[in-house]
Amino acid sequence: MSNDSPALLAKPGTPEMRSLFSIAPDVTPTNNGSFGTVPKSVLNYKIDWLKRIDSNADVYFNYEYDAELDRALLPVAKVLGLSDVEDIVFVGGATQGVNAVLKSLKPILRAQGRLPSTKRQFIFMMSTTYIQVAGAIRHTCLNDGFEVLELPVIFPMSEAELLSRVAG
Ligand SMILES: Cc1ncc(COP(=O)(O)O)c(C=O)c1O
Repeated sequence: MSNDSPALLAKPGTPEMRSLFSIAPDVTPTNNGSFGTVPKSVLNYKIDWLKRIDSNADVYFNYEYDAELDRALLPVAKVLGLSDVEDIVFVGGATQGVNAVLKSLKPILRAQGRLPSTKRQFIFMMSTTYIQVAGAIRHTCLNDGFEVLELPVIFPMSEAELLSRVAG
């Protein structure tokens, strides 16, 4: 996906954005986290990949998979505005990614000279945080000496109100 692709230019919540996805018109998805969805263009690309993999799965997974993942780092870096692919890693899912970040917190802060600290150190999350991620945050706090700062979020709440509570 390039930086000027329709999926990146369309504004969230607009009919233009909605038209890029296959979601049924009478459906309002509120749980993208569990299964997610991708723009139609990405879905078509995914189908082409599945056909390629299926044509010789053994060769694909044994000899091509790792190289293809490495090759995909550069376009992702461009979308994220990063110049170095060394700054990116693909993870299996949200829980794995968040765990990797949480496990790195203490050693990174220590390497930066910010630990040990006389100040209290918090990890911020909202009460709506995905349960696996919330569990990982609590576990990290217990083990690594941080404290949980949890913002209670009770819907319905406007986006503006939510953002102001997070900022406050
Ligand atoms: C509600 C919900 N279910 C499932 C997941 C998927 O987590 P994972 O990719 O780690 O399996 C998420 C991720 O944020 C989520 O928010």
